Amino acid sequence: MKTILRFIFLASISGIFLVQCRSESNESVSPFGEMIQPKNNASSNEKIALGRKLFFDQRLSLNNEVSCATCHIPDMALSDGHNLAKGVKGRKAFRNTPSLFNVGFAPRLMFDGGVKTLEEQVLVPILDHNEMGASMPEVIMKLRNDAEYQTAARKIFNRDFDAWVLTRSIAAFERTLVSDNSAFDHFFYQNKSNAISESAKRGWKLFSGKLNCVKCHSAPFFTDFELHNNGRTTLNSSDLGRYRINNDSTNIGFFKTPSLRNVTVTAPYMHDGTLKTLDQVIQYYAKGGDGGVNQEKLKPFSLTKAEIGDLKNFLKSLEDY
Ligand code: HEC
Ligand code: HEC
Repeated sequence: MKTILRFIFLASISGIFLVQCRSESNESVSPFGEMIQPKNNASSNEKIALGRKLFFDQRLSLNNEVSCATCHIPDMALSDGHNLAKGVKGRKAFRNTPSLFNVGFAPRLMFDGGVKTLEEQVLVPILDHNEMGASMPEVIMKLRNDAEYQTAARKIFNRDFDAWVLTRSIAAFERTLVSDNSAFDHFFYQNKSNAISESAKRGWKLFSGKLNCVKCHSAPFFTDFELHNNGRTTLNSSDLGRYRINNDSTNIGFFKTPSLRNVTVTAPYMHDGTLKTLDQVIQYYAKGGDGGVNQEKLKPFSLTKAEIGDLKNFLKSLEDY
């Protein structure tokens, strides 16, 4: 009995010790919990490495000039700084390029939520006339001639390099694009009270309290991944949002809430990149939105200059280096 008790005692102290080590090391505990991996695409280091290589490979496009990373630029939190994305031959894409961080947690993809899985999504930009403008048979032929890809496909998937290999590998790579190590995470999830400034703390209070931005941009992802309408769409808009997917007029103007993690490096903003700065975004919400078709209720507010600074400092604390 005594030995058992001693064992439990020792185990519990060492348990506590391990927990403390973990939260003190750089390898922090993620606020997201575990990502659900699809059953038909188990991850492996080799698959991820193949996916990473493909993500940066310009041969996925019509003229071998555009890769996924042309628009999803690593230094810009995987967005591109353009109002509308630029694809092959300088063609303008339909929407603003979103960050891809934490996309492995998203239950639906694209601004209109019209694509369900990362595997499926890979095909969209490759085939889109204005993005990569390619055809699958052409892309597969080009890449199958690359001995490195062909060898990897045989080794990892036990088949020739094909669309299955391409989409599974890129999706596996995308699931590694996780951003959960911002100053705000240190402050909020690891209880490090000095990790963000007093101003950023006041900004968080505004964001989560009086302004209720968390209604849609909820922690820990700073998006609820749902479709919402913040009022920027008129009947003349070229992009009617969710309506494009289901033809339901009550869905005109609904777009998937973007995550605000790394928002300071993903300007310009909104599905069409029409708001250039965070100041413009804040002014937009302060007036209660444009009142577009089906706009949800956004209560107008007024902030002092100092409070706007606080809100921006909070948003900056969501940057992950
Ligand atoms: C020409 C620029 C461009 C290229 C090239 C491009 N994308 Fe995108 N990507 C976009 C735009 C714009 C959107 C938003 C599209 C929409 O909502 O309709 C997007 C959306 C996405 C999304 C959905 C994100 C979300 O949160 O819903 C994923 C995932 C993605 N792209 C992955 C890729 C992959 C993988 C490749 C390469 C095979 C790629 N993209 C190539 C511009 C690009
Ligand atoms: C009713 C839900 C809702 C509320 C409340 C809300 N937002 Fe949004 N927010 C959205 C949606 C939806 C979009 C994307 C709209 C689009 O693409 O046209 C968005 C876009 C944004 C963007 C642009 C992000 C990007 O990458 O393009 C920022 C920044 C933002 N919101 C900040 C805020 C702030 C700050 C508040 C509080 C004052 C707030 N939001 C309140 C739904 C909401």
